[in-house]
Amino acid sequence: MKKLTVALSLLTSVCLHAQKFDGLALTPPMGWNSWNTFQTKIDEKLVQQTADIIVSTGMKDAGYTYIVLDDGWMTRDRDKEGNLIPDPEKFPHGIKALADYIHSKGLKFGLYNCAGTLTCAGYPGTRGYEYQDARNYAAWDVDYLKFDWCSSDGQNAKESYTTMSKALKKAGRPIIFSLCEWGQNKPWEWAAPVGQLWRATGDIGAIYDTVKKTNGWNPLSVMNIVDIEADIRKYAGPDHWNDPDMLEVGNGMKLGEDRTHFSMWCMLAAPLMMGNDLRKMTEQTHNILTDKDAVAIDQDALGIQALRYSKSGGLETWFKPLSDGGWAVCFLNRANNAQKITFNWKGENVVDDIYKKQLNAASTTYSIKNIWTKKDEGTTAKAFEGEVPAHDVIFLRLSKK
Ligand code: GLA
Repeated sequence: MKKLTVALSLLTSVCLHAQKFDGLALTPPMGWNSWNTFQTKIDEKLVQQTADIIVSTGMKDAGYTYIVLDDGWMTRDRDKEGNLIPDPEKFPHGIKALADYIHSKGLKFGLYNCAGTLTCAGYPGTRGYEYQDARNYAAWDVDYLKFDWCSSDGQNAKESYTTMSKALKKAGRPIIFSLCEWGQNKPWEWAAPVGQLWRATGDIGAIYDTVKKTNGWNPLSVMNIVDIEADIRKYAGPDHWNDPDMLEVGNGMKLGEDRTHFSMWCMLAAPLMMGNDLRKMTEQTHNILTDKDAVAIDQDALGIQALRYSKSGGLETWFKPLSDGGWAVCFLNRANNAQKITFNWKGENVVDDIYKKQLNAASTTYSIKNIWTKKDEGTTAKAFEGEVPAHDVIFLRLSKK
């Protein structure tokens, strides 16, 4: 009897882990999503132009692969057979043709829907249609599905997302499953077998740290999200990422704030989904988004989310262990004035208890590269000195010599 119980529980755990398609997101997914800038004002031309720009401006080469259509791509009703209908005015050639176009550029294509009865913008949700919708997505050659949580009263999040994950698996096409229930049901505790990423927070705004209080819904600031992510680092890793929401780089924050936002998302091993209008992007925005050294920190094969090592007077120090034995370091200045730092590597004891890593500058010397200035900053043999402007970062890569 005992043997049977053990065998059954083993089988259950294998089945649970076999639930999603494995290995689709060994590093955090990168791409573009329509929501932050366009909300439901999306169409075929915008998506095609965006794909063209991703290729022609080197963003594809930098790693941006998934083009995801968020809410607003369908009509208000399903057809008589219960199928979702792509809005014929926005997408006159249908979704499959658009996916073909994206694929012809060597990119991948994603769609949005919702676990509830209606999407957040009031279009038909998937509740009760999971297997049918999954079959359609597979037939349209979709590669990525973002799945929201509006109009889900009375639903159990784990069960609802598990059902959709199984439906995708049954449909047979490897599709990245991106859960979006805003961290309300602690998805980090149960979603690793279900999907490749889960939103850990409510929606981001292009706001550095102030929270605009209105009577209605309030977006979160970049710093609100950083604080939430600091506590859940142990749950993330290859193929199962905490998602701090899509990027707001290029959407109105100051340059140093955009740089901070991007640096911290890289430190957090976050999915990097651009959310700006690429047709109007400035050179500065393009340079931040495509910086090879910054993206390499995000995409590091170890997939460890950074640790907040110290925090004092608005100045924070974050460390991220890397696969080559090096570390990424980010000095983050949240204050409204510039702050000087002196960091004596040899005198510090940076230990990552969760991942069993230690930065021991007393016995190992690391060379230091400044990621944004590209300057060689010497080695950890002597203390690092610098000044971090208000709402900005100093972002470093330490490599074993
Ligand atoms: C929710 C999600 C957003 C976006 C919108 C679409 O608010 O969290 O990211 O998908 O719905 O309506």
